[in-house]
Amino acid sequence: MAVIGIIGGSGLDNPDILKDAKDSEVSNKWGSPSSPIKSGTIAGKEVHIIGRHGREHTIPPTYVNNRANIQALKDLGCDCILATTAVGSLREEIDRGHLVIIDQFIDFTRKRELTFFESFEPHAPAHTPMAEPFDADLRAKMTAACKELGVTVHDKGTVVTIEGPRFSTRAESHMFRAWGADIINMSTAPEAILANEAGIPYAAVAMSTDYDCWKTDEAPVTWDDILAIFKANAENVTSMLIKTIENI
Ligand code: ADE
Repeated sequence: MAVIGIIGGSGLDNPDILKDAKDSEVSNKWGSPSSPIKSGTIAGKEVHIIGRHGREHTIPPTYVNNRANIQALKDLGCDCILATTAVGSLREEIDRGHLVIIDQFIDFTRKRELTFFESFEPHAPAHTPMAEPFDADLRAKMTAACKELGVTVHDKGTVVTIEGPRFSTRAESHMFRAWGADIINMSTAPEAILANEAGIPYAAVAMSTDYDCWKTDEAPVTWDDILAIFKANAENVTSMLIKTIENI
């Protein structure tokens, strides 16, 4: 039976979805994961959850120890990782509350640890393919779950991950649109890179919480706007995760 890891993003890290949950503190050669691991079952399957920014949301994006998070889930025997993330929308048609099943990333981070390979074995360089960083089968299951639940979903989308914690300038926001990015966040690219290096199938569901600042008929995004939207829609993400896991 599949063992599933979940990395929950801001406001989308509700550990109450597990049956028979228990907490454990783990660490590995990369350090400690962002939060204790909450382990339990969903639909009879073993599930392990990490809150990406810590239980009290104290870890800014730059300081999330992605290597420790992915390594911890690997050590627990996870066969796949499902991630949740709040994103800004760079496209008119991706409205607040819509879900996007990400299929590509652009890495615009500047200060992250982006590899497990700090040295290579002799004559064995490790250059991980990254053309399709999100697992197609998991993505299909996520999309199907959204459709079954009647939640508005975009079955693909390119995310640009910025360093943060500040939001983008209007010039940057326009540039990301011109580059072909559909959504923007501060977390996905490093996590997806490391999951791929670790050989763990990875998929991420994004909840659109705002229109960043390219859209001049709206006030630029604030953190309070984001919180309000994901509180109103978090249950959709929880339900779609449960349904996805039922089908894994
Ligand atoms: N997360 C949610 N909205 C965002 C935005 N507009 N920019 C970066 N990260 C975000």
